Amino acid sequence: MYILGLESSCDETSAAIVEMGDGKRRILSNIVASQIETHRLYGGVVPEIASRAHIEAVSRITYEALDEAGLKISDIGCIAVTANPGLIGALLVGVNFAKSLAFAHKIPLVAVNHIKAHVAAAYLEAPELEPPFTALVVSGGHTSIYAVRNYTDFSEIGTTRDDAAGEAFDKIGRTIGMPYPGGAAIDKLAYEGDSKAIKLPSPAIVGDNLDFSFSGLKTAALNYINSERQKGSEPNHADIAASYTKVIVDAIVKKTSAAIEQTNTKQLVLAGGVAANSHIRGALEELCKKKRVSFYRPSMSLCSDNAAMVAAAGYFEFLDGRFTDTSLNASAADNF
Ligand code: KG4
Ligand code: ZN
Repeated sequence: MYILGLESSCDETSAAIVEMGDGKRRILSNIVASQIETHRLYGGVVPEIASRAHIEAVSRITYEALDEAGLKISDIGCIAVTANPGLIGALLVGVNFAKSLAFAHKIPLVAVNHIKAHVAAAYLEAPELEPPFTALVVSGGHTSIYAVRNYTDFSEIGTTRDDAAGEAFDKIGRTIGMPYPGGAAIDKLAYEGDSKAIKLPSPAIVGDNLDFSFSGLKTAALNYINSERQKGSEPNHADIAASYTKVIVDAIVKKTSAAIEQTNTKQLVLAGGVAANSHIRGALEELCKKKRVSFYRPSMSLCSDNAAMVAAAGYFEFLDGRFTDTSLNASAADNF
């Protein structure tokens, strides 16, 4: 069946057509209208601007996705829309558009959780992947570990108690003059620095838990940069990138390793925009090799926000018969 996926939870409007079922997991189109250039002017996402940009893009890209797939709206068997978590105004644009389209064309509608969608991206490139497995979702808004029991049943076994890893990368990037979002630039720059140059606190919460905290790390790095600047010298950016990346990678490896043991899993899925980080990816690949665990990470275009992942997650909601209607509302909070 053909599923139309719609995504508008943050700063990317996306529409995709995915074919699922009968052994197929195929992306026919995956259009992403990114607002990054607009938000860059402000150093981060401005929610009101994001909502307006979604309104301008959503209808156009939906028909673009249908055209690229060579389909008509009457060919669509299900519409899947991200309903939570995210920026409420942004989510409402996708949700209301999806509701209208489903109502007007009498197409079944399912609501998708954005985190479950990030994980579902892995199914699109790995036909052999099936639950149960352990998933680590690291993005601009999330850093959480899940025990994925089946396609729609997840339980969170670890999470950040404050900021997300992506946000932490972006914040430090901005402080050292990188354009928003700085995550990818820090990834590159970290290769040129000394990871032991600056002593920074670990974002892994001490004790028998799978939780993180990035706010202390962010503050410590900012304090270091400010105190160097007050002494009259600009700190070495590459050393900052390398030291900052090292403590984040070590913390992620430590908690993921504990999660693998706790869940006794044989498969690990890494998802979300920060899954693009080459240091995190390399360290987790190594960890999985050591622990004889199969490692899955979607390709870059499926790691960052996109609607193909929403359509993939929506397919399993459809199979579970979890349909919704015009009463569907968006929620900024995580509704699993
Ligand atoms: O999943 P995503 O596209 O959006 C959210 O749902 O948040 O993730 C975006 C985040 C940004 O914080 C960005 O800086 C980060 O992913 N990111 C990276 C890299 N590429 C993107 N962080 C570290 N290293 C990278 N290579
Ligand atoms: Zn995301």
